[in-house]
Amino acid sequence: MKDVILTGVRSNDEPTLGNYLGAFLPMVRLQREKAGEYQVNMFVPDLHSFTTPIDHEGLYERTIKNLKYFVAAGLDIDNADTNIYRQSYVPAHSELTWILDCFTYMGEMSRMTQFKEKSTNEDNISVGLFNYPVLMSADILLYGAKWVPVGDDQKQHLEITRDIAIRLNNKFGELFVVPEDWKKQLDFSARDSGVRVRSLTNPDKKMSKSIDDPRGTILLSDDPTDAAKKVMSATTDSVGAIHFDWENQPGVTNLLQILALLTNRTQNEVTAEWDGKTSYGDLKKAVAEAVQAFLETFQARYNEVGKEALISKLEASEEAMNIVANETLVRVQAAVGLRPKA
Ligand code: TYM
Repeated sequence: MKDVILTGVRSNDEPTLGNYLGAFLPMVRLQREKAGEYQVNMFVPDLHSFTTPIDHEGLYERTIKNLKYFVAAGLDIDNADTNIYRQSYVPAHSELTWILDCFTYMGEMSRMTQFKEKSTNEDNISVGLFNYPVLMSADILLYGAKWVPVGDDQKQHLEITRDIAIRLNNKFGELFVVPEDWKKQLDFSARDSGVRVRSLTNPDKKMSKSIDDPRGTILLSDDPTDAAKKVMSATTDSVGAIHFDWENQPGVTNLLQILALLTNRTQNEVTAEWDGKTSYGDLKKAVAEAVQAFLETFQARYNEVGKEALISKLEASEEAMNIVANETLVRVQAAVGLRPKA
């Protein structure tokens, strides 16, 4: 059995540059480097989509579209060690979630920062929003995934997955593979810190499709010239010189990060090039050009991705994943007393 690398990106809305840099790119890179030695599971957590209100009409097609984005980003769907699937096509995800729910505590769930952030100022907060880290745990534990490359904002969810897995293993014997801790995950994906692309207008917040912040968010479907304009009007600071400093200069630092990732250079290299310079305008221009060039190439590639090959890959993976996931589910059902012991 090969070790499993697993990650998912919701398809609620158009993906952002943050999704691309934080998830698509590392995943594609990992696939290119590690498939063969590892099994790579890349799935769309479509059940996670309505933890916050969405346009249900468009969800199905957007899911397909998102997967096409992955292919445009370089994911090789002909690779035999790669599985591409939709969460809702593997019912074991929902079933395992319920069981895990009963071993997860209100206290630990209430500490999830993402829940706190997303539920502030909302009147009707769904139980789904509160509970979704447990569904995420099921997503990971069903496949015995050791490696879960995700952005910084998902760190707590990975940690709670580890806690739940360890808790059940202690109670019922070795049921689950425990995913590796955050530090090891970063080393594995060759990142020294989690990528967290910030909003261009509000650089204290992450760039997010669910926040109503169109000027601060670059969508993968944005017109490349419009996207460049967004970068040119990004919020910076009044320090007067460029430094890589998330604390005091988050806007400028965000731009340096985007530039390094898009031009495939190390952060140190890009930071050294700009450090101490005083023209924020020049930096914005360099980033705007990089963003525009990236979107032009990316969108051209996207238009060439065929739907048929993608659908047949999905169907084949979903069949295979149902077998793997059901094996885990039956093992858990037996352990908790729902099925006879093997
Ligand atoms: P989601 O759909 O919100 O985001 C998908 C991935 O994109 C990363 N990301 C970012 N990275 C850097 N900067 C940003 N501004 C940014 N915005 C988003 C996220 O960290 C994530 O890696 N719960 C997950 C999806 C999920 C999942 C899983 C992931 C469900 N089950 C199991 C891994 C394993 C989520 O909502 O991601």
